[in-house]
Amino acid sequence: MKHKIIVACPIFEEVLARLHEHFDVTDNQANEVWTKAEWTHKLSQHTAALTTGADPVDAEVLAGCPQLKAVANMAVGYNNLDVPAMTARGIQASNTPDVLTETTADFGFALLMATARRITESEHFLRRGEWKQWRYDMFAGTEVHGSTLGILGMGRIGQGIARRGAHGFGMKVIYHNRSRLSPEAESECKATYVSKEELLKTADHVVLVVPYSPASHHTIGAAELAHMKPTATLINIARGGIVDDAALAVALRERRIAAAGLDVFEGEPKVHPDLLTVPNVVLTPHIASASVTTRMAMATLAADNLISYLTQGKSITPLNTVGA
Ligand code: GLV
Repeated sequence: MKHKIIVACPIFEEVLARLHEHFDVTDNQANEVWTKAEWTHKLSQHTAALTTGADPVDAEVLAGCPQLKAVANMAVGYNNLDVPAMTARGIQASNTPDVLTETTADFGFALLMATARRITESEHFLRRGEWKQWRYDMFAGTEVHGSTLGILGMGRIGQGIARRGAHGFGMKVIYHNRSRLSPEAESECKATYVSKEELLKTADHVVLVVPYSPASHHTIGAAELAHMKPTATLINIARGGIVDDAALAVALRERRIAAAGLDVFEGEPKVHPDLLTVPNVVLTPHIASASVTTRMAMATLAADNLISYLTQGKSITPLNTVGA
């Protein structure tokens, strides 16, 4: 008997074909949007799922899916999964670390550059036909090379951004993290450990790469924004909810910081309406890992996690330990 699995999102045909070799697969190539109740009902008819970070597998969903054995999240972040509750029910959880680190760090740096140098704002100006003459102060932004880069959350992606800043742009890198890096890792990134307060006060560019949890909710709110330099930029490629988006929109409108670059939003795909009306923010729709090669690697790893667990009792990149 083949396991019945559900793939919650559209996915590469090659990856789907690979899953079909092993399982009885329900796909969502039609990109249907399901309510939580519909998702729970569909999941309850399968023994495993390939999910994205937008598909909840929390206590409420789990209560409706007693036969569930494995969930492979096609993302490195997994705040959509209640891993302790899954472990208690003997359900294997996995994510897709490592394969997206460099691509996501590239994007973090691209967003920093676009934000500091006002690339999208100036493009919109040009497209509106408002470019009449060269001016010395036209879209003059914030310096990137040689400036101070502050990274909040120094995991694999944070370190990738630090390396780019230090080695490529001669930036002074400071960071804050729950735990300090080893001296070797600090020296590879040329990064100096500082308190969160010092980072906010001294960085020219603050990049957020912390994982989301109730403890990291609104890591950056009105009080933290008030500590930042008025010339500073804030980049969020972590998760919606790390930043208080309403407070950020006020700080941007009142020019209490210079600009922000956001790839993730509280309650996405909805975006706080005030962020849509301030000019000094670059907005992208949660695409930091979106190169074709990396998305293929993520989908393949998620599929392989399911295949490996359901056929051999062992995921490649598990998030918990359960009996097969
Ligand atoms: C994307 O946000 C991820 O966690 O991989």
